[in-house]
Amino acid sequence: MNDLRKQIEQLVLQTLQELRPGMQEIAPLMQVSQLQTSSFTYGKRVPFVAANWKMNQLSASAKSFIIELQKLDRKNVQTVICAPHILLSQMAAERQYADLLLGAQNFYPETAGAFTGEHSLQMLADAGVNTVIIGHSERRNLFGEQDELLAKKLSTAIANNFLPIFCVGENLAERKNGSTFRVLYNQLTTGLSQIRPPFPDPDKIVFAYEPIWAIGTGVTATADQAEEAVAFVRERLVEKFSYAYAEKVRVLYGGSVNEKNTTSLAAKPSIDGFLVGNASLGVSTFASIIDQTAACKRMV
Ligand code: PGA
Repeated sequence: MNDLRKQIEQLVLQTLQELRPGMQEIAPLMQVSQLQTSSFTYGKRVPFVAANWKMNQLSASAKSFIIELQKLDRKNVQTVICAPHILLSQMAAERQYADLLLGAQNFYPETAGAFTGEHSLQMLADAGVNTVIIGHSERRNLFGEQDELLAKKLSTAIANNFLPIFCVGENLAERKNGSTFRVLYNQLTTGLSQIRPPFPDPDKIVFAYEPIWAIGTGVTATADQAEEAVAFVRERLVEKFSYAYAEKVRVLYGGSVNEKNTTSLAAKPSIDGFLVGNASLGVSTFASIIDQTAACKRMV
């Protein structure tokens, strides 16, 4: 554990030293909390692995997936399948274990009304769903969802006792011009702006660092890049909530996670699990990602 702490301290110091030009204004914030980061206790959070099926699978493949997945030992990894809306009721009927969560990929933050094509959280709860992805880059970029709407979605999901997976991440140009941390900072600041006490239990809110350049591209962030960004996200949670709270919140990495890169990413102490797209479509690959995550986190 001491070695691990030293590594984290080193990582934070290195991050501070490498602050890019665009980062200067928020550097003081990092310095205020850097000592706290170095004493985060790792390995106490239950790993979390989520499948994001996006617009894939039909009823037959969804059924066999959930049946097969339930035959496997998920080894204390909290597992979520975020399926297309039309498959969710059917999957809820196939689900035998309450610890296997079902998630939606989208919802509209109103109770009911004239919102053609949308689904409310009440409808999702009625279908047996208790988790929802918010802020995915495909929703932000392809469907024009802005930070303010995402903030409303996040607070509405919490108010309705859903577990939100709130995603943040920079695009390639932002990574290249050194504004990664600024983008994450802004997305988190606005995204969290409508959450007020009483805060949800820390195990009922999950964050995901998803660099857009790594999503669906086959290009994964290096384990160090992912660790650095995930640690940065947790630092912001210290500011919003508290040190003790942020220490308990799971922060995931997402972007071209597969069987081959899971272990190196999961070995990083800040990364609590994954949001998996392509590699979650086949049950054996997804199960391998769960197994590897469990094995790594047992050792942290
Ligand atoms: P990918 O998708 O694993 O296919 O890159 C990840 C995501 O979009 O959450």
